[in-house]
Amino acid sequence: MAQHTPKIAPSVLAADFSQLGAEVAAVPDADWIHVDIMDGHFVPNLSFGADITAAINRVTEKDLDVHLMIENPEKWVDNYIKAGADCIVFHVEATDDHVELAKYLRSQGVRAGFSLRPGTPIEDYLDDLEYFDEVIVMSVEPGFGGQSFMPEQLEKVRTLRRVIDERGLNTIIEIDGGIGEKTIAAAAEAGCDAFVAGSAVYGAEDPNAAVQTLRALASK
Ligand code: DX5
Ligand code: ZN
Repeated sequence: MAQHTPKIAPSVLAADFSQLGAEVAAVPDADWIHVDIMDGHFVPNLSFGADITAAINRVTEKDLDVHLMIENPEKWVDNYIKAGADCIVFHVEATDDHVELAKYLRSQGVRAGFSLRPGTPIEDYLDDLEYFDEVIVMSVEPGFGGQSFMPEQLEKVRTLRRVIDERGLNTIIEIDGGIGEKTIAAAAEAGCDAFVAGSAVYGAEDPNAAVQTLRALASK
């Protein structure tokens, strides 16, 4: 079972970029703000970088959950640490030494996370969980908001939940992609602690009410 009150992390990827300050202020009940960084190489889309991340950090006290969908993350993490990231999540497919990078992130005072594409098995990384504060299980192919949830990815969540609980670790399991009112309960049931929601929050008429509804559904 998930050990924490479910955390809801709205992704500003789905927000109106022309008024990011207002969009972040529109979700006062969010736990974290999820910041999707895409470089047009690791994923076929470009979002924004460290300067915009720093701008988001200036308008909120909430923790920034920075999801780096970029190649060579080790070259860029310092920029995101300076920008105010609280947790930095990089992709295991994009780096040669995920443990080394995790150790570096923790040494710099930020939480370390890794994420995997839907096609990447979790088994190779289970032995290294102690180095990580968070794992993001992708339930869509990274690169775009608004895609359909891939329920088979919950098998990874179940495996992670079992191993994390068996070893008494505090690693948070976050799910990212296609999370909304119809899918969040299944993800919670599988053992997720944290839930990214882009279009389900910023596509709603009342984004903060959407955050509350999602948390209630995940708490059942
Ligand atoms: C996808 C991003 C997600 C995305 C989620 O590559 O990592 O964080 O913003 O958007 P929704 O919730 O709309 O699937
Ligand atoms: Zn993301």
